[in-house]
Amino acid sequence: MSVAADFARDGFAVVPEFLSAERCAALVERAEQLAERHAPEAPRSSIFTTVEQERISDAWFMGSGGSIRCFFEAGSDALAAARAVNKIGHALHDLDPLYAEASYDPRLVDLARAAGLPRPLVMQSMIIFKNPGIGGEVTVHQDSCFLYTEPGAVVGFWIALEEATLANGCLYVAPGGHRGPLRERFRRAERGGAEFVTLDATPLPRVEELTPLPVAAGTLVLLHGHLPHWSGANRSAQRRLAYAVHCIDADARYPDDNWLRRDPLGPARELTAGPPPA
Ligand code: FE2
Repeated sequence: MSVAADFARDGFAVVPEFLSAERCAALVERAEQLAERHAPEAPRSSIFTTVEQERISDAWFMGSGGSIRCFFEAGSDALAAARAVNKIGHALHDLDPLYAEASYDPRLVDLARAAGLPRPLVMQSMIIFKNPGIGGEVTVHQDSCFLYTEPGAVVGFWIALEEATLANGCLYVAPGGHRGPLRERFRRAERGGAEFVTLDATPLPRVEELTPLPVAAGTLVLLHGHLPHWSGANRSAQRRLAYAVHCIDADARYPDDNWLRRDPLGPARELTAGPPPA
């Protein structure tokens, strides 16, 4: 089956060996450097969790769309900052040269087009650490909730930089679930911060109904913005580092009450443009 056919049928497609072991190792090393450099400047109260929908919506989070910022795991106060990192986001693709190169990889243009985005704009990027013993669950969600466009035109590139297993919190997906409605969106609230708003009351699938996707390091998973997916807590001794990039289509409307804004960077760049000049 082709990537486009898999994607149309399932709402996701697995591309093994997208990155070499050497590229993964270089990106892992950079991720560790970024955590060391940026964790000390982040407030330890910047907890990132999707459990109980108490997603952080403070100024640190709301202003991260155009910068490189660390967010911590809940209950990580006793750990060294770098070990406590949940994720780093959300403009690595425009601010870190090594991640920019990975984010504007020309092969992603074909994958975006196979996913139905003729003019992909690179909106958001994050390194997800899923540290051993503390890396938390990410509850069942649809990525278009956080990057809302009209019509829906969001694709995620999720790349395992380290092996993702059943034990360390691999992705779980709902094959075909992309044909369902978008259940909610996360938008800027008038009182400040952001809030979840229900768009369709159809329940998301339960975790027990999902299919696990354990993958080797270097594997890319292409995700439709409406595809319900989940990952569990990392209860193993092995970290599960992943890099995720999200694109929207340039011809879709991106309402300005989306939580993610690019300030102080300029408008999002097209994937075809290649990495920003150094
Ligand atoms: Fe997601």
